[in-house]
Amino acid sequence: MYRILRKEVFSPSVKLLEIEAPRVARKAQAGQFVMLRVYERGERIPLTVADCDPERGSVTVVFMEVGKTTRLLGSLEEGAGILDFVGPLGNPTEIEKFGRVACVGGGVGVACIYPICRALKKAGNEVIAVVGARTKELLFWEDRLRETVDELLITTDDGSYVRKGFVTDVLREVAGRENPPDRVVAVGPLPMMRAVCGVTKEFGLKTIVSLNPIMVDGIGMCGACRVTVGGETRFVCVEGPEFDGHEVDFAELAQRLQRYRAQEQESLARYEA
Ligand code: FAD
Ligand code: FES
Repeated sequence: MYRILRKEVFSPSVKLLEIEAPRVARKAQAGQFVMLRVYERGERIPLTVADCDPERGSVTVVFMEVGKTTRLLGSLEEGAGILDFVGPLGNPTEIEKFGRVACVGGGVGVACIYPICRALKKAGNEVIAVVGARTKELLFWEDRLRETVDELLITTDDGSYVRKGFVTDVLREVAGRENPPDRVVAVGPLPMMRAVCGVTKEFGLKTIVSLNPIMVDGIGMCGACRVTVGGETRFVCVEGPEFDGHEVDFAELAQRLQRYRAQEQESLARYEA
């Protein structure tokens, strides 16, 4: 069992768990993920490594409760155990000295861009973080990001904090500056990443996105996570999760994410009954 050392509730639907997993903590790098299974008959779900502490032997994940498994995970308290916790999986984010990098995070994607911002900064880049949430209550880790990056720009869809609008509005301004970013990294809901790519394509900015298809095994055997990138089939779990956003077939991925909607809703309804 992998013990929950710490739990933080950011909002009723967004939670953080710090989990005791020393071997994963020693190896995990920015951009990688874990596959976890809460109990014997449960499904495996992928979550990004938001932080890790090799000395404490812990890995931190931040997740939004959207269905049965994330709801169940969110109900666990400190001291409880998780049956399987496999990782780190996927390829780490490409980290080099690119110059100026804009990291765009939407919703829980903010937790995913934090380790990427930190690694990019450590490699000598100037890092601009553009983060957005539907409303103020859903924003978290503003303090951590502020300590890490050179510039932090915040938006909320409803204008309840800092600036009203979408991350794409801010990104458009950043992209149009005299010194635009040399690269953009975006992690968040699919429509957000797609919209970010629309903006950056206009400005000719290389853009990396972290894809979130449905995964089953997370090790390249089942094919559940296949996506089309540059006209070719790619397996996100072993070849990703990050790809050139301008090459991704977002429409196909969005369609595939809807495929089991009826079963997901039934499963959640049964869990809540
Ligand atoms: P389900 O019943 O499976 O789904 C409920 C709803 O969520 C449905 O509407 C469904 O269409 C949608 N959904 C299901 N799977 C996904 C998905 N993969 N992406 C987007 N929507 C989905 N989520 C986090 O909150 N934090 C993370 O750090 C995180 N990292 C991820 C890293 C990777 C590599 C991948 C592939 C996904 C990641 N996700 C993350 C998404 C997370 O795995 C799903 O939200 C989770 O599997 C949903 O399980 P569920 O049983 O609670 O909901
Ligand atoms: Fe099975 Fe990627 S999740 S091949």
